[in-house]
Amino acid sequence: MEGYIADWLNLLIRWLHFITGAAWIGTSFYFNWLNHNIREPEKKQEGIKGELFAVHGGHFYQVRKYDGAPEELPKTLHWFKWEAYFTWISGFSLLSVVYYWNAKMNLVGMGADSLEPWQGIALSVGGLIGGWIAYDLLCKSPLTKNPVLFAILGFSLLTGAAYGYSQILTPRASYIQIGAMIGTMMAANVFFVIIPNQRVMVDTMIAGEEPDISLGDAGALRSLHNNYFTLPVLFIMVSNHFPMTFGHAFNWAVLAAIALIGAGIRHYFNLKSKGHLNVWILPVASVAILALAFVIRPTSKSTEDIQASISYDQVEPIIKERCMGCHAKSPTLLPSAPKGVMFNDPAVVQKIAAKIRLQLSTNIMPPGNYTEMTEEERALVISWVDTGASIPQ
Ligand code: HEC
Repeated sequence: MEGYIADWLNLLIRWLHFITGAAWIGTSFYFNWLNHNIREPEKKQEGIKGELFAVHGGHFYQVRKYDGAPEELPKTLHWFKWEAYFTWISGFSLLSVVYYWNAKMNLVGMGADSLEPWQGIALSVGGLIGGWIAYDLLCKSPLTKNPVLFAILGFSLLTGAAYGYSQILTPRASYIQIGAMIGTMMAANVFFVIIPNQRVMVDTMIAGEEPDISLGDAGALRSLHNNYFTLPVLFIMVSNHFPMTFGHAFNWAVLAAIALIGAGIRHYFNLKSKGHLNVWILPVASVAILALAFVIRPTSKSTEDIQASISYDQVEPIIKERCMGCHAKSPTLLPSAPKGVMFNDPAVVQKIAAKIRLQLSTNIMPPGNYTEMTEEERALVISWVDTGASIPQ
């Protein structure tokens, strides 16, 4: 019953997280687009810097951008902050339901040298808070005057964190941890810097004084960082579907490479809208993706190395003991077979043999080695796949 409740919480919170995240990134993309496409008004107007006309859903819209601030503020001013806050709140709730609640399976694993659940949770939460503090200090340091150095240092620190977490958390959790850390920086940027600075500026304007431009600049810097964070974070959030990335022995380096490519592509579009056409970035990014795909390709032993083919009789008891607690018609460890993957029928096991091999060679299944599969058993099932995955007729 507990597992069933966790599944429903997972579903509802994930759904909310997805909706609020789409709304947040959506407004952020929209304003970014707006800034790049707004043009000088056709008819000059006092205080108006740019103007944009759009048609959407059968209606016409006119947006104006002020040069500084309007003379008078309207009664309703939209702030765009709840999307960010709810994305963080739902994200942290999801992290708790999936990774903290069932920490042995999903966060720290069952190995003899695995951390205790409370240690894993403490290190995970500590990373969210510590990551933000470190990043915030960097943003307040003179280093921001040198954006290249800032980017290199920030990237190295995050890659170091990815390496560290990959050593102590399950592969899946170590990816999500980095995504959650960056997501926390993004939401905290909105909560602690962008919105408070805007509030001070609006208040000074209401008081009839000149707003402090440095506050706006600090907010704009955080906004720019959030813009670069978006692509890597979105990749991490869907990375769960791609065991070839988080399951790789050097998963932290794979993550660093993908993040770099993602931020590079973002950089290309940002430069392009500023009028700099750095065309070389796109082909370089494409080649980098191809190279990465090549480097992390699954390697299988050549069949010549293996003398005799393994029979299913040797494999079946292992699958029963180590997998079918979850992957069966009526599993005992979970409310229902995850992703509908069930091993009751040998023909099915044979059909998805390649998928099973990937899950085993990357140590992703069983999750956190929950059923304590031995290395010999793992090697045997992999050899069964490599020697033709035969089943009794
Ligand atoms: C404790 C429960 C549990 C055990 C034991 C377990 N699995 Fe899984 N398995 C899961 C979960 C949960 C998922 C879904 C993961 C996801 O959301 O991508 C899954 C997914 C899979 C998938 C589908 C992956 C995909 O991306 O479609 C395969 C294949 C798989 N497991 C193989 C195995 C094999 C082989 C074993 C035994 C060696 C095993 N599992 C043991 C829980 C388990």
